[in-house]
Amino acid sequence: KMASTGHISTDEMEELREAFSKVDVHAHGYISTNDLNELFKVANLPLPGYRVREIVDELSKTMDTNQDGKITFDEFAEVFHGLKSSEVAKTFRKAINKKEGLCAVAGTSEQSGTQHSYSEEEKVAFVNWINKALEKDQDCKHILPMDPSSDDLFTAMGDGIILCKMINLSVPDTIDERTINKKKLTPFTIQENLNLALNSASAIGCHVVNIGAEDLKEGRQHLVLGLLWQVIKIGLLADIEISRNEALIALLRDGESLEDLMKVSPEELLLRWANYHLGEASCPKINNFSSDIKDSKAYYNLLNQVAPKGDEDDIPPIAIDMSGLREKDDLKRAESMLEQADRLGCRQFVMPTDVVRGNPKLNLAFVANLFNKYPALKKPENQDIDWSSIEGETREERTFRNWMNSLGVSPRVNHLYVDLDDALIIFQLYEKINVPVDWDKVNKPPYPKLGSNMKKLENCNYAVELGKKEAKFSLVGVAGQDLNEGNRTLTLALLWQLMRRYTLNILEDLGDGQKVNDDTIVTWVNQMLTQAEKKNISGFKDGSISTSLPVLDLIDAIQPGSIRYELVKIEDLTDEEKLNNAKYAISMARKIGARVYALPEDLVEVKPKMVMTVFACLMARGMKRV
Ligand SMILES: *[C@@H]1O[C@H](CO)[C@@H](O)[C@H](O)[C@H]1NC(C)=O
Ligand SMILES: *[C@@H]1O[C@H](CO)[C@@H](O)[C@H](O)[C@H]1NC(C)=O
Ligand SMILES: *[C@@H]1O[C@H](CO)[C@@H](O)[C@H](O)[C@H]1NC(C)=O
Ligand SMILES: *[C@@H]1O[C@H](CO)[C@@H](O)[C@H](O)[C@H]1NC(C)=O
Repeated sequence: KMASTGHISTDEMEELREAFSKVDVHAHGYISTNDLNELFKVANLPLPGYRVREIVDELSKTMDTNQDGKITFDEFAEVFHGLKSSEVAKTFRKAINKKEGLCAVAGTSEQSGTQHSYSEEEKVAFVNWINKALEKDQDCKHILPMDPSSDDLFTAMGDGIILCKMINLSVPDTIDERTINKKKLTPFTIQENLNLALNSASAIGCHVVNIGAEDLKEGRQHLVLGLLWQVIKIGLLADIEISRNEALIALLRDGESLEDLMKVSPEELLLRWANYHLGEASCPKINNFSSDIKDSKAYYNLLNQVAPKGDEDDIPPIAIDMSGLREKDDLKRAESMLEQADRLGCRQFVMPTDVVRGNPKLNLAFVANLFNKYPALKKPENQDIDWSSIEGETREERTFRNWMNSLGVSPRVNHLYVDLDDALIIFQLYEKINVPVDWDKVNKPPYPKLGSNMKKLENCNYAVELGKKEAKFSLVGVAGQDLNEGNRTLTLALLWQLMRRYTLNILEDLGDGQKVNDDTIVTWVNQMLTQAEKKNISGFKDGSISTSLPVLDLIDAIQPGSIRYELVKIEDLTDEEKLNNAKYAISMARKIGARVYALPEDLVEVKPKMVMTVFACLMARGMKRV
């Protein structure tokens, strides 16, 4: 076993040299930055294009000896070393051999960055949050409460139950209670729980492509914390969204349209919210939940503004004691402030030191939780607001968004149309489906103030061109402008083709390159169903799919005995019973290891596109059967 000293072993060094010489064909002793992508591939460390570009940028900044676009072996070795300790490089290699994607069942992880250590503050914060959130949950009695000062968290996450529960709290109804294994856990049933948790996390938009069940089982600290933070954050920010909380319109600024406000990210809305209340209190505004909150003064005023004033019948007033503001010491002031937050039931996520140090993550969580409990906003009356223009996200839009976020596009997509207007996300998705993007042709932010939309439009034109010429998508009548302006129908048409291609690629990889289309999938499904003596489907529009029975039967055919048919309604189903079956089916699919993004309603309503993805994911899972 190789020692994980973080150094490259002699063997590894040999391999690296070999890889290097394969790319440095003329034995110059250096390669061009353009070849770096290829080199990482040869060195068994394929990186997405944007990562390679970041590395090149980084290199040109830090390595003053060599600014000529050349990379020597030593430089490469150093970068490689920085990216992966030798041990992680090895597990990573295993992970890519298993192929990431629709059914990352077990698998190990890519190391994220070079950090192995984890943040103690985060651990404490998450443990306290989970202890409180699941306090009353009978299923967690065996683990809770966890001791924040210990490593309890990392062992507790190992059976998957807590993670399932937290995911379901962040996005209610994501996980069907009946599918969690709770009693007499064995390695197999634990694996199922972890599959369920990871595939559900990805379905709500967590980036989990590089996290595997092994990582959770073994309690790999930085990965566990990273995943938990994603899950918790999704829950905390879920309601900071105008279609879910119209009172947020009170945050409109002069001269701003509702449309402008709807483009604002939840993090930014939260900042505006804090500043709105600070403004009401005639206090200085803040620019971040970091340096600007260190002295607790903004927090004091914010608490004072949002605390219940007794003007609502059922909520008794709570008067914030502001005397702690006079404390000279930042730490003591922070503690006094948190004591007041405690009186509101909002002492969460931060310790006094986290406030004083301005930990941005934990302070964001602290404020988001405060917002969720005490928004203290009133939906504005008498304004020229076109309420009908506030549309919530459709299910389809949400599924696409969660899908792309789970693939780790950057920045995270909050609003489907707005956030695609410069096509940068689309380019990243092209790379995921192996459509090469010439990044020299892409305009990158920050865009100039004048003419920024021109730059974005150029990107969109290029994105459509790639779709037509390289990806061979059917994009009749789609122009860059449609993407740029966020034409819903046409944007969705492109996104669907991207998601479909992504799905089919995974099947083709599993089938050693054999072409796959809808018919292939239907035939495979029917073969499985026939073998299991169940009824065939006629296609993805088959009405019987609304009962979810074909899906449940297929799952049971892939993993015999997995479906508890006593929980399933077979005949004369009401709408509610259909939905009940569908919830069970979707969670079961995830539990046996299929990375399903579709929602139960998609089955009930027999939405052919989403139905196709469900069967395709199950087929991917079925083909992996050992
Ligand atoms: C998930 O959330 C729904 C709705 O809040 C609830 O009915 C269900 O029991 C929860 N499931 C789990 C596993 O906690
Ligand atoms: C927060 O905003 C202030 C200005 O209000 C700025 O000086 C500071 O650098 C910012 N801190 C961070 C961490 O961005
Ligand atoms: C989107 O594009 C379609 C097809 O060109 C067109 O019919 C529709 O009016 C456009 N929608 C908007 C809002 O522009
Ligand atoms: C079901 O589909 C399979 C695979 O296409 C086929 O072999 C079989 O004959 C079909 N069964 C029925 C009853 O149609």
